[in-house]
Amino acid sequence: MHHGYYGPDGKRKVEHRQAQLDMIEAMLEWGQAPTRLQRFLDAGCGVGGSSRYLALKHPEARGLGLTLSPVQARNGQRYNQEAGVGDRVEIRAQDVFSLDPAAEGTFDLVWSMESAEHMADKEALMELFLAMLRPGGQLIMATWCHRPVPPALTEDDQRVLGKIGELYHLPPLVSVPDLKAAALKAGFTNVATDDWSAAVEPFWGAVISSGLDPRNWPGLIRAGASTIKGAWAMKYMKEGFRSGAIRYGVLHATKPAI
Ligand SMILES: C[S@@+](CC[C@H](N)C(=O)[O-])C[C@H]1O[C@@H](n2cnc3c(N)ncnc32)[C@H](O)[C@@H]1O
Repeated sequence: MHHGYYGPDGKRKVEHRQAQLDMIEAMLEWGQAPTRLQRFLDAGCGVGGSSRYLALKHPEARGLGLTLSPVQARNGQRYNQEAGVGDRVEIRAQDVFSLDPAAEGTFDLVWSMESAEHMADKEALMELFLAMLRPGGQLIMATWCHRPVPPALTEDDQRVLGKIGELYHLPPLVSVPDLKAAALKAGFTNVATDDWSAAVEPFWGAVISSGLDPRNWPGLIRAGASTIKGAWAMKYMKEGFRSGAIRYGVLHATKPAI
């Protein structure tokens, strides 16, 4: 349930599902993920695709995935069993903001893949992630942003961003520099950001084509009205990437060792 990665300039010809796996690998590499991973938090995990990927890549690692959706948590737990990682990866329906570092313990890696855009208060989120990491632990985040300001967002930028926010139920987005400022303010070091919009842009063409394929219509209809509304929002994502109003922001940051 996240964008595909099509090489740094978006020119790599790769099948859309593979591109989603490539995104995880590209983020781990760029994000300076720990080479020995013992415990990770997948904050806003969907059905836990990244968690299973991490658990399979690191056979000694244990993971906790959180989603707001009990349906995603239930399905994710089942997929974990099917993938043979059910004893190492737990997926819970729980708000990340209810996490208690004292009760939960800390993690080597906080993985935040296309979920932070759902969380309005980025400063509080960065503080929470810092608290959830062990000293020296790493935060890796990919999230939808608006373009840097100034110059101020135009009316047209605001129209596209407003439509995306409305159709995907998002609070107002922030810019990549805003994300970086929030991480620094929370006390992270080694904070780096980048704009991967070019690398992900082909994704929406691939998704729209799959939506137009009549073989996928029964599934879309079964998924219900809100999914169809979400599918409609794709045209605004395409428009937003084309105009530059929307940006695919990535960030990595380290919790100071002491
Ligand atoms: C677009 S999905 C991304 C899922 C997943 N990270 C992936 O890459 O496939 C966004 C996810 O964020 C979760 N989410 C949003 N706000 C959350 C919160 N406050 N606490 C926990 N999960 C949250 C949603 O439940 C959903 O699973």
